[in-house]
Amino acid sequence: MLVTSALPYANGPIHLGHLVEYIQTDIWVRFQKLRGHDCLYVCADDAHGTPIMLRAQQEGITPEQLIEAVGQEHRTDFSDFNIGFDNYHSTHSPENRELAELVYRRHRDAGHITTRTITQAYDAEKDMFLPDRFIKGECPRCGAADQYGDSCEVCGATYSPTELRNPVSVISGSTPVERDSLHYFFKLADFETLLREWTTAGHVQEEVTNKLNEWFEAGLREWDISRDAPYFGFRIPETDDKYFYVWMDAPIGYMASFRNLCDRTDLNFDEWWDKGSDTELYHFIGKDIIYFHTLFWPAMLAGAGFRTPTAVFAHGFLTVDGQKMSKSRGTFIKARTYLDHLNPEYLRYYFAAKLGSGIDDIDLNLADFQQRVNSDLVGKVVNIASRCAGFINKQFDGELSATCSEPDLYDEFIAAGNAIAADYDAREFGHALRKIMALADRANQYIDANKPWVLAKQEGNQDAVQDICSTGINLFRVLATWLQPVLPAMVSDVEALLNIPPMTWDAINTPLTAHKINKFRPLMTRVEQEKINNMLEDSRENLASAETAEQAAGPLQDEPIAETISFDDFAKLDLRIARIKKAELVEGADKLLRLTLDLGGETRNVFAGIKSAYSPESLEGKLTVMVANLAPRKMRFGVSEGMVLAAGPGGAELWILNPDEGAQPGMRVK
Ligand code: 2FM
Ligand code: ZN
Repeated sequence: MLVTSALPYANGPIHLGHLVEYIQTDIWVRFQKLRGHDCLYVCADDAHGTPIMLRAQQEGITPEQLIEAVGQEHRTDFSDFNIGFDNYHSTHSPENRELAELVYRRHRDAGHITTRTITQAYDAEKDMFLPDRFIKGECPRCGAADQYGDSCEVCGATYSPTELRNPVSVISGSTPVERDSLHYFFKLADFETLLREWTTAGHVQEEVTNKLNEWFEAGLREWDISRDAPYFGFRIPETDDKYFYVWMDAPIGYMASFRNLCDRTDLNFDEWWDKGSDTELYHFIGKDIIYFHTLFWPAMLAGAGFRTPTAVFAHGFLTVDGQKMSKSRGTFIKARTYLDHLNPEYLRYYFAAKLGSGIDDIDLNLADFQQRVNSDLVGKVVNIASRCAGFINKQFDGELSATCSEPDLYDEFIAAGNAIAADYDAREFGHALRKIMALADRANQYIDANKPWVLAKQEGNQDAVQDICSTGINLFRVLATWLQPVLPAMVSDVEALLNIPPMTWDAINTPLTAHKINKFRPLMTRVEQEKINNMLEDSRENLASAETAEQAAGPLQDEPIAETISFDDFAKLDLRIARIKKAELVEGADKLLRLTLDLGGETRNVFAGIKSAYSPESLEGKLTVMVANLAPRKMRFGVSEGMVLAAGPGGAELWILNPDEGAQPGMRVK
């Protein structure tokens, strides 16, 4: 089985939204491996395209340097979340170039590629064609200002960028002109029969079939696979200045990553990718990229003489506390920020508990997250081991009983294994965990009913204590085996505790008897509220930099003007002139300075995220503007009593407001 997750773009950090997919795939892959299947999991960075090219320009580095640096971060984030890729590569690789050219040539030679001239928006200042997302203007339908070139966020209209009123290039601010260019198109409709057959032969989820039917109804349109220079990507063979559109070579990156693995091992590429191959190929993706994976991709593969996927599994998006992830609420949480505060296995467990086989969105409710991890993992599962291992360690020199005293109970556990396996296999992780937790309750009830701690204090009950605790440990081993795909790190500590080789699904058919275990050490601690708060706080602190990363599109001045407010709303805001009396570094904070502000008769303590742009000395004595009636906020470093105003994308580019001398501290700004 060859399994993939979608390739993350190499221009931004991994965040919790991404992790739903990598955790989902990783659990499935670990499950398959635990069952003894020959299963490989490959992925790569998606390294091409205009946003990456422009972001590198903005940072004054080459795209190669950018994708190298981001690629390293991605790898570390994934590995710290225990995502066990068998290979992680890049689409900007020799393997991918070779395969993309091969796929393209085969299609071209078979007549599936056509060319025609199209008219597109062009930035004459920057000398480049503008992708839709890099043009803004007024919606041709409702007139809303500051809308992207492809759709209006206000009225929902979709249109072509040439229809926008008063368009501007997001890159240079100039007015785009129209220019002609020859483009290369993939004739998707050539594959309609094949696709209709493939999409109805059990390779996609039911919800996806419905979507596909709509797309078939609408007609399979030709797909523009070329982009003009300048572009960061692969040049199309036999052209001077045409490049493959990033989405053309991205899925081929799945093959390229695998090819790279083959070249380092004794795997045979053709056995996995040839038409008629009897291996299985699975793609996990988000629901936003279904079209690419269920239409373009199977057509590209089939037309180039390769096998098609066994299945494409789509999942929904992540919300946090019921809402879209938000930078201002601190719920746009980067993988790294999470890892700075919390154990990755908490999140793996929580996501698993929420995941099913469908494409519904899943919600990370932080209160529920804390409660569920604490009650299930710490309160139920780990509790079994901590209640039993101590007695075995202390009173029996670590030795488990010579026979299993509760064969019926043990068998009852083992009997549930098939249903749990079926749930995992069907990606119904939530169902699997519910069954496992019900059995964890059962194990705890058994221990409660038999009270080894009471028996241990009485004479003559030593054998019973050893039997009860040995049973507890054996039941715990069964549960841990089933949890291994979700909690690989904790379970590896369990293997050390139980003094056993890496678990397999079938090894638990026989309980451990007359077997010596090691000393118990806590396997997992409770999720603390304070850590969650600190993570949210840090995510808010990251606001400026996260936004810059996302705004690969261009300068932050492009941030749309917010919704209109009434004068009364404005009047609620009490802005005051303040003098910065003192500015100090804050120990342990990367981005904050502590400011003591004089409001003329009152001083305020304010934490401001401007350390990247100002040294404390440079601020002392300056006038600035603060929001004086903001509710005080408790931060990790103390209470912040207001905010100072600043603008800019972040890093060194942040500017506080600095009124002319003459303004008096305490004066209201209105
Ligand atoms: O949507 C995305 O983030 C793309 N980078 C996914 C690519 S998946 C595959 F096709 F390469
Ligand atoms: Zn509109």
